[in-house]
Amino acid sequence: MLKYDIVVVGGGGAGLMAAIEASKDKNIKIAIVSKVFPTRSHTGAAQGGMNASIGIADPNDSFEKHAFDTIKGSDFLADQQAVLFMCKYAPELIYELDRMGVPFSRTKDGKIAQRPFGGASFPRTVYSADRTGHVLLHTLFEQAMSKENIDFFNEYFLLDIDIQDNRVEGLELLNIKDSSVLYIKTKVLILAGGGFARIYWHRSTNASGNTGDLQAIALRKGIALKDMEFIQFHPTGLAKTGILLSEASRGEGGYLINVNGERFMSKYSPNKMELAPRDIVSRAIELEIKNGLGIGEGTSAYVYLDLRHLGEEKLNEKLPQVRQLAIDFEGIDPAKAPIPIRPTAHYCMGGIDVIDFKSSETSVKGLLAVGECACVSVHGANRLGGNSLTELVVFGKYAGEYAREYAKNVDFSNNKPSIHSESYINSLMQREGNVKLYEVRNKMGETTWFNMGIFRTEDSLKEAYEDLTKLLDMWNYIPVSDKSRVFNTNLIELLELKNMLELSRVVALCALNRRESRGGHSREDYKERDDKNFLKHSVVCYNESGELILTYKDVDISLYKPEERKY
Ligand code: FUM
Repeated sequence: MLKYDIVVVGGGGAGLMAAIEASKDKNIKIAIVSKVFPTRSHTGAAQGGMNASIGIADPNDSFEKHAFDTIKGSDFLADQQAVLFMCKYAPELIYELDRMGVPFSRTKDGKIAQRPFGGASFPRTVYSADRTGHVLLHTLFEQAMSKENIDFFNEYFLLDIDIQDNRVEGLELLNIKDSSVLYIKTKVLILAGGGFARIYWHRSTNASGNTGDLQAIALRKGIALKDMEFIQFHPTGLAKTGILLSEASRGEGGYLINVNGERFMSKYSPNKMELAPRDIVSRAIELEIKNGLGIGEGTSAYVYLDLRHLGEEKLNEKLPQVRQLAIDFEGIDPAKAPIPIRPTAHYCMGGIDVIDFKSSETSVKGLLAVGECACVSVHGANRLGGNSLTELVVFGKYAGEYAREYAKNVDFSNNKPSIHSESYINSLMQREGNVKLYEVRNKMGETTWFNMGIFRTEDSLKEAYEDLTKLLDMWNYIPVSDKSRVFNTNLIELLELKNMLELSRVVALCALNRRESRGGHSREDYKERDDKNFLKHSVVCYNESGELILTYKDVDISLYKPEERKY
């Protein structure tokens, strides 16, 4: 049987960072498991930068101010000590990454450059043009590759986690290359598999693999998911495809304009304008469209992101990818014409409930969660742009440190594996039925977008919950039409679809029961934030009969008293 002291599932920024830190003890054997080749992980899609108060652009900035901006941006749902921890360690992580070789953009005198980003009171976003996640991911991958005590299992899909006596024992993986099942015994399992914004199948910035597999498996194993109703819609997705155009476009001075050429953000956020937090900007765009001030109609309507005044030189230096994406996917050169944009599902603030932010441990001993698949919670009801890369490097590093020390001090158990996924995979391969996978997935995408999207109501959320329950039942009648065992993407898509359907239903349930508006969760029937009844985290588990049970837990507000959020 294969044995590793630590197994990390997820080859993106959080997982790589954790593995690199853990590998500092050469006696610790580490495996990184990834369903895609690691450099294809979604960290690579993060464009605009990462927040850290290094104080180069403005020496008046501080980690406390970064913490306050983050807490205010979260609509006071973030746990405040966890936020302070992230903001405090962010600057030293920037220099650590710089030493590893991340090619950050520089000022004229060679210092690390910073740009303004939404909801921030100082320009504190460190960047590498508009390819920050890409260069971070490649640098961390190179670092991890060079460690003799890290092995990679690329193109392996997590099927199940072995938990016995509330302690992690191992995991089972599907080898995508030949559909065989592999068991690995471990002392520590770090879940770092990214988000699930692909539940909004038709309109998301996410890669098609961002299907929340780890969150769904954790839920099935009795581990709670937290704050799942909070989905971030990024304001500037390309109109036709939903592909991300970085917030850096607005950080560098881009405008949002409606059909009349008016910079409409003056109505919604007179102080911050285009650099208000994402939840506010996304709602503003949708309201412009609703009020007939967009261009086009229905689902094809949009407003413009105008970058023409920045000029070709600045676009090429600071926003080369934004320019290229607009040319390739929208047929518009931003140097010459405004770009059609509309909000797009981007990020999940909720995830696997982490109960100790310093170690990233969950309720199960030896089971940690980091990055977007985890809910620490540092983003609360709305994440600030640039805080996701910060989160994954800070919590990735400290999870890796904890995992290393823990693994050094415990032995492998003598327990035998208690999970056996092979018969499950065989039964799926033999399943008969006439329901079409792509029809169910399309229906899920419509239900999530129209009934639990940017604006929500009691009726729309009830409908979403009922539709998703039906779709989950229909899933049982979807056959695997590709009978080959070699790179069977049809089988993987089936497994991913079940994970997305289960998570979508959790989002609907939490959103239905949160009868207030806060951050990214906007109820048309409960327009105000209601701290008296809802200053609390939603926590969801399955009970023994397989029903979803929703409870709540307190938010840590030990630093700043919640106040009205004005920008
Ligand atoms: O807009 C962006 O560049 C995305 C950054 C983020 O989600 O933090």
